[in-house]
Amino acid sequence: MTDNAPGPIGIFDSGYGGLTVFKEIAARLPDYDYIYFGDNARAPYGIRSFDTIYKYTLECVRHLFAMNCHLIILACNTASAKALRSIQQHDLDAYGPGHRVLGVIRPTTEMIGNVTRTKHIGIVATTGTVQSQSYVVEINKFFPEVKVFQQACPMWVPLIENNEHNSPGADYFVEKCVAQLLEQSGRIDTIILGCTHYPLMLEKIRKYVPAHIQLIVQGEIVADRLVDYLQRHPEIEGLCSKGGRYQFFTTETPEEFDAKARLFYSGEVHSRHFEL
Ligand code: DGL
Repeated sequence: MTDNAPGPIGIFDSGYGGLTVFKEIAARLPDYDYIYFGDNARAPYGIRSFDTIYKYTLECVRHLFAMNCHLIILACNTASAKALRSIQQHDLDAYGPGHRVLGVIRPTTEMIGNVTRTKHIGIVATTGTVQSQSYVVEINKFFPEVKVFQQACPMWVPLIENNEHNSPGADYFVEKCVAQLLEQSGRIDTIILGCTHYPLMLEKIRKYVPAHIQLIVQGEIVADRLVDYLQRHPEIEGLCSKGGRYQFFTTETPEEFDAKARLFYSGEVHSRHFEL
């Protein structure tokens, strides 16, 4: 559908969370061109139905393809859990082999069994990600001996998207969800922050998680896997342009996006509005 001229790598999230992944990708692969696309106007995704998340994600993926991205990272667990497989199975064919969409769940689940001693792992994520069972299924494929305990935290993304995550009110919801997770098993020694927004609240989460439990943040893991992916797929790597140009699009207000983005990403951010 689009031509084979190299183009930017697309990074998609429902809002700001994907910046926690993009930051690590840009640190490792600074010379590529990137388009970050935040669908802030429709965030949060995590409370929406499968059909809606699939529809929204596919729409944004199509816009990124139209901007000449050949490789798109869904830097969003909810979209990875609820839309990635359908997009890969039903929608990518129309674009041909030079178009790929990858997610963030697989890189984390591939390594997680190697970092737990007790083999009891906790996941905190959006309601959508938890309901999809994607973490349970994926971890089971790689590490069948690992037991997975999940806790949906439906208030955490809205707190972050509304810049309330450092407020005292946020403590209530963080403490509550962490306690609900830990009640499920006393043997959890590893918790995956299964939502790319959550690293923004890392300090607050740490406050309520006992010190012997490690918290796994996805950004570095996903970025390392992308480096590896590009090495293993020269046919895709050759379609990724290298000019060090970073563009940002938001479906909401650019001024607000830029101000907030600076909290998570230290480079220049001058986003443009994208009208859906
Ligand atoms: N950053 C997305 C994730 O990783 C967030 C979710 C949302 O919009 O609810 O799941």
